[in-house]
Amino acid sequence: MEVSGSAAAPLLDVEQLSKVFDAAGTGRVEALASIDLRIHEGEFVALLGPSGCGKSTLLSILSGLDSPSGGTVRLAGEPVTAPLAQMGFVFQRDLLLEWRTALDNVLMQFTMRGADPRPHRDAALRLLASVGLAGFEDKYPWQLSGGMRQRVAICRALIHEPQVLFMDEPFGAVDALTRERLNSDLSTLCSEPEAKTVLFVTHDIDEAVFLADRVVIMSPRPGRIVAEQAIGLPKPRRPEMRGHDEFLHEVARSRELLLDHGVLRD
Ligand SMILES: Nc1ncnc2c1ncn2[C@@H]1O[C@H](COP(=O)(O)OP(=O)(O)OP(=O)(O)O)[C@@H](O)[C@H]1O
Ligand SMILES: [Mg+2]
Repeated sequence: MEVSGSAAAPLLDVEQLSKVFDAAGTGRVEALASIDLRIHEGEFVALLGPSGCGKSTLLSILSGLDSPSGGTVRLAGEPVTAPLAQMGFVFQRDLLLEWRTALDNVLMQFTMRGADPRPHRDAALRLLASVGLAGFEDKYPWQLSGGMRQRVAICRALIHEPQVLFMDEPFGAVDALTRERLNSDLSTLCSEPEAKTVLFVTHDIDEAVFLADRVVIMSPRPGRIVAEQAIGLPKPRRPEMRGHDEFLHEVARSRELLLDHGVLRD
């Protein structure tokens, strides 16, 4: 599915975005240059690039947590100038509060905004159950495995039905088998009942191809978008698809693009 050229207006529209860090004493770092990116509603985009190319910086700017040095970011046509209320964020570290139960960590999305969490309790329980955590609602984070903790963090990022979900290497710290399982669960969660709009950062080629409708490849710093690859595999993605020729072909294609653009060296 090639959606980047679709006629519909994009939900997230990034034009000629650049970022230079120039704080006194730390030297000048050109992190991002000439980033053009359009993400449509319901599209799952994976951002694939080497360490230090500016992926986290880009996510911070798109979500309104940081400001660009140049260029514009629009969400549904409106300039993004402050942290977006209608976003969900999942980081590499789950950032759960150890003294709150799994359920209360999910409901934190409302308490931290000063809203009453009680009307959302049933929805939070359903969401936790949908990621295999029924029966664990009242456990504390320290009683959960790394994969379970990251599932709670994902539920917290989705409970308020954000317009866009930003994920910054959310599975970088879990083991390989758990990661594959979490990839499948995330694909289901983001495809059903309706397709969610997601920007997912990763270093992992298989993960990017498995999850995304479109893989966007960034160059080493200053990060630029050097290639895009549409992934037309049916969604939600199932674990067995990793062995299918179509999947393996897309992974090989991604690797070729990374090589062509000097992101992987020969
Ligand atoms: N607040 C900051 N002040 C100064 N430089 C910064 C700041 N944040 C990031 N940088 C620099 O900008 C560049 C991009 O950093 P960023 O964290 O966005 O990379 P990344 O692609 O997310 O890397 P990784 O894959 O390792 O997480 C790096 O050179 C980093 O040192
Ligand atoms: Mg990063």
